[in-house]
Amino acid sequence: MKMVEVAVIGTGWCGGIRALTLSQSSLVDRLHICEIRPERLAEVKEMTGAATATLDYQDIVNNPAIEVVYISTTPETTHYPIARDCLRAGKHVLLEKPIALELAEADDLINIAKQNNVKFTIGYSQRFNPKIAYAKKKITDGTLGQVVSVMVSRHLSRSLGKKIAGRVKLSPAAMESTHDLDFVFWLLAPAKPVRIYSQGAYGYMQPLNGSYDCMWSIVTMDNGVVVTIGGGWNLPPSYPNYCQTWIEITGVDGSLMLDDTARDHWLNTVEGGQQFAMSTMPGEHVDHVFAGQMGPETMHFLECCLRDKPPMVDPMHARMVMETYSAADLSAERHEPVGLPLSNSALAELAELQAALR
Ligand SMILES: NC(=O)c1ccc[n+]([C@@H]2O[C@H](COP(=O)([O-])OP(=O)(O)OC[C@H]3O[C@@H](n4cnc5c(N)ncnc54)[C@H](O)[C@@H]3O)[C@@H](O)[C@H]2O)c1
Repeated sequence: MKMVEVAVIGTGWCGGIRALTLSQSSLVDRLHICEIRPERLAEVKEMTGAATATLDYQDIVNNPAIEVVYISTTPETTHYPIARDCLRAGKHVLLEKPIALELAEADDLINIAKQNNVKFTIGYSQRFNPKIAYAKKKITDGTLGQVVSVMVSRHLSRSLGKKIAGRVKLSPAAMESTHDLDFVFWLLAPAKPVRIYSQGAYGYMQPLNGSYDCMWSIVTMDNGVVVTIGGGWNLPPSYPNYCQTWIEITGVDGSLMLDDTARDHWLNTVEGGQQFAMSTMPGEHVDHVFAGQMGPETMHFLECCLRDKPPMVDPMHARMVMETYSAADLSAERHEPVGLPLSNSALAELAELQAALR
């Protein structure tokens, strides 16, 4: 059986999940890990039995035996330089979202991957959520007929919101609705977004880090389908990484309602109160099974590399998603709809907006 040497750079929450998943696979010859926090590096090395553990990602870049790299670092400013160096070194790369902070950086990564003929994908884990996969199947096999509308409402706990918005000035559209834009555009392919109107609302988070609590966006597709996406991060911290999602899809011949709110199981303890177990966006290892999407997603990418198959998420699609949530930020600021793809003047305004936020 063919096996490969694999690395995970950044072994915090998500990188820890990816490293543990890979450590359990018979497709992985040797697992290498990299993390700048020595105590976490030691913890994940112990948990995974990694062959090597380093504080410097250049050790991964410069190791020719490593073919596949998962990049799960924060802050998100690290995504572009680390992915660029790994792709330049000829490694296949799965990079967590966001693909980059600027569209030019995303283009650069996509070009390097093409030039070096390596696989490059973005961690849009929701594609591996069985409920979303079912929606794709029911649209593709014609059960719903012509799709008319899609609505996604996603809310995260405020403790998770604080963690995310505290490290980087990216909006709920860029950090949360990005997953929903990705899978909805996938569901509706080959339709493309042509216009977006977004509004942001302030509340709990503004005094902490200046962020909106929630953003709602209406996206018009080129075939007329209307997409409504809401994303927020201000739910009370009943469970630190809690995420709940409600999805409504209507079509001419049918409709599909998906309850992904994790309300079908909850844990209540005297000490911790109510907790929504198994409700995080990536999911979690539960002994011998993985409850959620990041485990299967991690293995999917490895198998694509071994079998020379295209990964589920094309980086050009991730770029389209990035352009759309960037337009959402611009629309919320201007209080008017923004056309897609972005015009040169919209791109210039976006650059000004991003510079003001930094
Ligand atoms: N797909 C999903 O469902 C999902 C869910 C949550 C987060 N994410 C994305 O995954 C990424 C990671 O999020 P997280 O919550 O795991 O973050 P985290 O902060 O828990 O972990 C990131 C780790 O990267 C390490 N790091 C930073 N710079 C490094 C470097 N140069 N070399 C090695 N390690 C370095 C940090 O020390 C930290 O341990 C984020 O970009 C986020 O957008 C995806």
